[in-house]
Amino acid sequence: MRSVSKHFGPTVANDAVDFAASWGEVHALIGENGAGKSTLMSILAGLYRPDAGTLGVAGEPVRFRSPRDAIRHGVGMVYQHFMLVEPFTVAENVLLGARDRGVVLDTRSVEADLSRLGERYGLAVDPRAPVWHLGVGERQRVEVLRLLLLGARILVFDEPTAVLTPQEARSLIATLRALAAEGFCVVFISHKLDEVLAVADRITVMRRGRVAATTTPAETDRRALARMMVGRELAAFVEHPAEEPHETVPAGNVALRVRGLRARGDNGLEALAGVDLEVRAGETLGIAGVAGNGQRELAETIVGLRPTAGGSVHIGGRDLTDKGCSAVARTGVAHIPEDRLATGLVGSLDVSENAILRDYRRPPLARGPFLVGRAVAAFTDRLIHGHDVKTPSRWAKVRTLSGGNQQKLLLARELAGDPAVIVAVHPTRGVDIGATEAIHGSLRAQRCRGAATLLIGEDLDELLALCDRIAVLYEGRVVGELPARGADLERLGLLMAGIQEATASGATAADRPPVVLRG
Ligand SMILES: Nc1ncnc2c1ncn2[C@@H]1O[C@H](COP(=O)(O)OP(=O)(O)O)[C@@H](O)[C@H]1O
Ligand SMILES: [Mg+2]
Repeated sequence: MRSVSKHFGPTVANDAVDFAASWGEVHALIGENGAGKSTLMSILAGLYRPDAGTLGVAGEPVRFRSPRDAIRHGVGMVYQHFMLVEPFTVAENVLLGARDRGVVLDTRSVEADLSRLGERYGLAVDPRAPVWHLGVGERQRVEVLRLLLLGARILVFDEPTAVLTPQEARSLIATLRALAAEGFCVVFISHKLDEVLAVADRITVMRRGRVAATTTPAETDRRALARMMVGRELAAFVEHPAEEPHETVPAGNVALRVRGLRARGDNGLEALAGVDLEVRAGETLGIAGVAGNGQRELAETIVGLRPTAGGSVHIGGRDLTDKGCSAVARTGVAHIPEDRLATGLVGSLDVSENAILRDYRRPPLARGPFLVGRAVAAFTDRLIHGHDVKTPSRWAKVRTLSGGNQQKLLLARELAGDPAVIVAVHPTRGVDIGATEAIHGSLRAQRCRGAATLLIGEDLDELLALCDRIAVLYEGRVVGELPARGADLERLGLLMAGIQEATASGATAADRPPVVLRG
């Protein structure tokens, strides 16, 4: 790719980017959120057209008008969100793509090819299984197999391990290496530095739409990569987050108690199937699990945004089951929701209006029905300075702030009243490294102050670094719990896959139709 540029409205996603990857290599593409990685690779895969610049494959200049065009030239991409038809079987999904491309294949030969390729590259799936039966890791394998069968020789993976358990991630990484060993060109987008250092032959770092550096694992390390990603030295960069010493705080009384909690998801199906948990003052309980196993519903029922279908929620000894979110907030519960601009903040309101959303009815911010301007300004300034929120002024619309600064403002507001209980869902998702450090600092400080925190996360490193205990949610149940310090990653991964007891003869997954491996 030469001098490739792409903008979306005023946003320059790619700014004259040069990028080259070779046959037979795993080429990692790293950078902070918003650096332009997905855009660049979507251009390579024919999803977007560049505003400027040229592409070449195997020395030939190419111009792709669609993903189909790209696949014809051997370029395929595994996106972060899969594009499979759920009621169809694996083989049918593959056939669908092939027909699109004008290739006529019969089911039986596709099934045979899938088994053969699956075996060869460690991508085992049952070709006859309907896709809705499959877990996330298996669906991802189907996507890869589909591209291989369509003849892709250049394979792009967009943050493929983000959705996987540690075991699945390890297996995928072995697949990437196997593909490279057979001469494929593999581009691996990630922001997990350890993973990149372990698997990549070369690493290209993007920063704000440009290429900041291209290097190799031998020439660099985590710290240097992080510096290239953010463009400055990180004062408190944690070399190995999981090993960071954990300040011991004596745990106090039970602040949050959840018993037999049941709830339905947005689709009306049971999302929580009887959850029990307890968090004490000064303690952080992490909730791990593959996305979609009830995490969102758990947080929402606790904070009173979603009705329960059974069970109870006690906060500080008071029964707050189905009492509504205002009552829960008044009891001293802070909520850092998953979607900060839909639930947490109001993008069209300014910084100070968002800052007072929780407390605007009460003194000192209000006197009778009136807001006290000076008090509002002082309160807002305290939040902005206390949490280093970078904003042009108190009157800037919140939607114009970066994701990291929005999140810092949200945390500042929610933590301002020294809450007894904090429910935080993916608090650092989509924010830059600097803001992530600041948010971790705030949560640690709250723990030391004595807050009971329920931290729902998808990044195991983050959970291990911040939590005292980790409970794993699987299909709406807590399937196991372990201490975070010195946690057994193997067991954690098995629990995330729904496997509670690993036996010598192999493990059994709970409530999932068995996957038959053929070939
Ligand atoms: N379809 C789109 N419409 C508008 N803006 C977009 C779109 N896709 C990406 N962007 C913007 O382009 C920039 C680069 O995004 P992206 O390529 O997704 O980064 P990365 O994958 O490195 O996180 C970001 O500022 C993002 O908000
Ligand atoms: Mg991306």
